[in-house]
Amino acid sequence: MPINIRQIGPCFAGEVDGIDLREPLSPEDAQAIHDGMDKFAVLVFHGAPLSQEEHMAFTLSLGEIEHSIGTSLRAPEEVRLPPTFADVSNLGKDDKPYARDDRRRLFAIGNRLWHSDSSFKVVPAKYSLLHALSVTSSGGNTEFAYMPAAYDALDDEMKASIEDLVCEHSQMYSREQVGFFDFTDEERHRFAPVRQRLVRRHPTTNRKSLYLSSHAGKILGMPVPEARLLLRDLTEHATHERFVHVHKWQVGDLVIWDNRQTMHRARAFPERERRDMRRTTLAGEGPTVARQVA
Ligand code: OGA
Ligand code: MN
Repeated sequence: MPINIRQIGPCFAGEVDGIDLREPLSPEDAQAIHDGMDKFAVLVFHGAPLSQEEHMAFTLSLGEIEHSIGTSLRAPEEVRLPPTFADVSNLGKDDKPYARDDRRRLFAIGNRLWHSDSSFKVVPAKYSLLHALSVTSSGGNTEFAYMPAAYDALDDEMKASIEDLVCEHSQMYSREQVGFFDFTDEERHRFAPVRQRLVRRHPTTNRKSLYLSSHAGKILGMPVPEARLLLRDLTEHATHERFVHVHKWQVGDLVIWDNRQTMHRARAFPERERRDMRRTTLAGEGPTVARQVA
């Protein structure tokens, strides 16, 4: 059966059928997925839960992996998954939900702000592939916002004024916004800001989009409060309902999004329930800014 994609969001996001993610992906099907990603930016696959190996094999058939080393607060002895996975669950090594005041949980609450994955890395992510193994009885949706349409909807004056702006992104900026300041010196060093363009062009669709993320905390050459307000205003604009698709998770779902043309955020869910989500990430093609350091 050939791959079929049906649009489910307002101006993007598709649901895919005609594919079993546990089977090796043919080059034709891989190409159909890439084409679908360029067009829809978010693709939803429903199916049976995947093993780590199946999730990884599918990921590798679409590109080169981005490692998650050094991006979370989990100590090496606390990790549940290999560094080729981002553990997006609320679970400790004992497979139980984190205590309410566990700092790993509080840090992860930062994912509930609109962001683009790994915008805090010099080479930010291409696709994220998030898979649900346990979902909560309510809440816990993931929302996606489509940034090319958000960019197109700006007026010409705004487009001209932001065209060449460069932001600084760090996980410390996103966590500051939820009142999390509790970083060790080692973490502050590890989370040092990187630069990203505010307007980026997609390498295959050639469309421009707003490259926003809660990790953005400064704009080069602009006073911080002014920069924060501009970023806040743009984010408010870009996450209007008409640019947003909401995914309600079922066990076995795999959702792929293109971080170069979307933002996303997790929504709150019941504290004491297990939410087991695992993410693989594909590496981006290069930095959005040529020179990283002044
Ligand atoms: C992620 C992420 C959102 C969620 O995996 O990068 O932000 O709903 N996840 O868990
Ligand atoms: Mn994310």
